[in-house]
Amino acid sequence: MAKRPEWLDNAVFYEIYPQSFKDTDGDGIGNIGGITEKLPYIKELGCTALWINPCFESPFGDAGYDVSDYCRVAPRYGTNDDLVRLFEEAHRLGLYVLLDLVPGHTSWEHPWFKESMKAEKNKYTDRYVWTDSIWEEPTGYGSLRGISERDGSCAVNFFTHQPALNYGYYRPQRPWQQATDSEGPVATREAMKDVMRFWLSRGCDGFRVDMAGSLVKNDEDCKGTIAIWQNIREFLNEEFPGAAMVSEWGEPCQSLAGGFHMDFLLHFGSSHYNDLFRCPEPFFQGCGDASRFVEKYIDSYERSGRRGLICIPSGNHDMDRLARHIHGDNRKLAFSFLLSMPGAPYIYYGDEIGMRYVEGLTSVEGGYGRTGSRSPMQWDGSENAGFSTAPAEKLYIPIDPSSDRPTAQAQMEDAASLRSEIKKLIAVRQAHKALQSLGEIEFISDGAKGKPLAYIRSGGDERIFVAVNPTDSAAELAFDGTPCEVVYSFGDQAELAENRCVIGGKSAVFVLIK
Ligand code: GLC
Repeated sequence: MAKRPEWLDNAVFYEIYPQSFKDTDGDGIGNIGGITEKLPYIKELGCTALWINPCFESPFGDAGYDVSDYCRVAPRYGTNDDLVRLFEEAHRLGLYVLLDLVPGHTSWEHPWFKESMKAEKNKYTDRYVWTDSIWEEPTGYGSLRGISERDGSCAVNFFTHQPALNYGYYRPQRPWQQATDSEGPVATREAMKDVMRFWLSRGCDGFRVDMAGSLVKNDEDCKGTIAIWQNIREFLNEEFPGAAMVSEWGEPCQSLAGGFHMDFLLHFGSSHYNDLFRCPEPFFQGCGDASRFVEKYIDSYERSGRRGLICIPSGNHDMDRLARHIHGDNRKLAFSFLLSMPGAPYIYYGDEIGMRYVEGLTSVEGGYGRTGSRSPMQWDGSENAGFSTAPAEKLYIPIDPSSDRPTAQAQMEDAASLRSEIKKLIAVRQAHKALQSLGEIEFISDGAKGKPLAYIRSGGDERIFVAVNPTDSAAELAFDGTPCEVVYSFGDQAELAENRCVIGGKSAVFVLIK
C-alpha cells in the first residue's frame, strides 16, 4: 500500500519543459537557473509543486526522453548542484519538485546500451530486451537490428534510438524472453532504484514516471508491470516514504494498484479526455459531449476505491495546447472544471496565460507535431518575450510570432485575464477541503450534448455544488441541499433555491450547500 505524502492532499502542479521556460545565460535555451529564478511566479499563481521534464544528459533525439546518464544534469541546463539549489529554493518557498523518470528505455548512446551491444557477455548483456538472432525480432513496437556486434535484435520503446530496458516478459515463450524475476530484469529494476535513490537523497520530492505501464513485455493486463511497481513501492516505503509518484499510464485502476499515488488521464487511451478539450467538438467549447468521459471517470474512480488521485492535466508537452481548441472565456470554464475536480490538477506552463500552439514549425528534438506546444514561455513585452537575451534565430524553438501573443506580465496586471481567474480558482480550491484532491465527487449532470457538467464535492464537513456550463443556454439543475454561500462564480449570476440551481450559459458556479 502506498503511503501518501500529506502535501498531495492539496497539491496543484505546474509542469515545466526546461528548454522553454527561462534562459538565464543567453544561449537561447532554458536552464535550471531560469526555473529557480521563476519559482516565485509559480508560487504567486498558487501552485504548490512542479514537475520538470527530463533534464538529464542526453543526445536529445526525443527532447531528453532519451537519457544517456540518469545521474547527471545535461550541461546545457547547468549542473547537479544547480538542481540541488533548485530543490532547496523550492522547499524554502514551500514548493515540491518532481523529476521525470524514464525507466522504460534509454538513449542508444547510454553506456549500458553500448556494453549491451557487445558480443562478449558482460554485466549489461541482459539490460535490454534482445532476441538471440538478428533474424528474429522481439514482439512489440519495433526493433534495432544490424548495429551491434552481438547477434540479435533489440526491442525499442518509442523512437528507434530508444532501446527498451529489460524488465522481462510476463509469460516467456521464446528462449530469449526472460521471466520478470530472472537476473537481467531484476538488475534493471535495481538499477532504476539506484537512480531514484540518487535524486531523492539530493532533495527531489518524487517522480513523474514516463510510459510507466509498459515495462514488462507481452503483459496484456499489466499484471507483470504492476508487480514491478509494487516492488519499487516497497523500496520507497522503506527508504523514502515521502516520495510522491505520478504515472504516465492512463489507467488509474492499474497504476494505483502498482502503488502510484496519482495517474494521469491522457490524450490517448480509454479516458475520453479528448472529448473535453481536444476534438472537433470539445465539450468546453460549448458544443460537445462529456458523458462518455464522465462514465469512464466514475468507473475508474469507483474501481480505485475513491482514494487514488486521478489527475487531469490542462495539457502537456505531448499534446496540442489547450488554447488551440478552446477559445476566449471558455478557457476559464475549462479551468473551473480542472481546478474543482478530485485528484491533483496539473497546469502545463503557459496554459495559465492561454499560450497558443505555434503553427507550422519544423520539428525540434523529435517533437514533430508536438513542437508547437513547446515554444518559449512568454514572460513580458520585451525582446523574445523576456525568455532569453539570445538573438531570435538562436532560440530553441521560435516564439509565438503573433503581435497579440499573451504574456505573463500583462495578465498579472489584468484582473479579468485567464491567469487572474486561474489564480482565483486555485485560491478557492485551497480554501475548501471539499474541492481538494481527496474530496469525494458525485455527478449531478454528465455534460451530455447541450447539458452542463455538475457535481457535488464533499470533504471535511463541507459540501460544495459545482456547475460548469460552457453551452450557450441556461440550464436548470436539481440537487439535494440548501445553498448557503457562493464561493466562486463566473459569467451570469446563478439563480439558487432549495434543491435547485439555474446556471446561465457560459457560466460557472461553486456553492456551499447544507
Ligand atoms: C512519453 C513522453 C514523451 C516521450 C515518450 C517516450 O510519452 O511524455 O514526450 O516522447 O514518452 O519517452
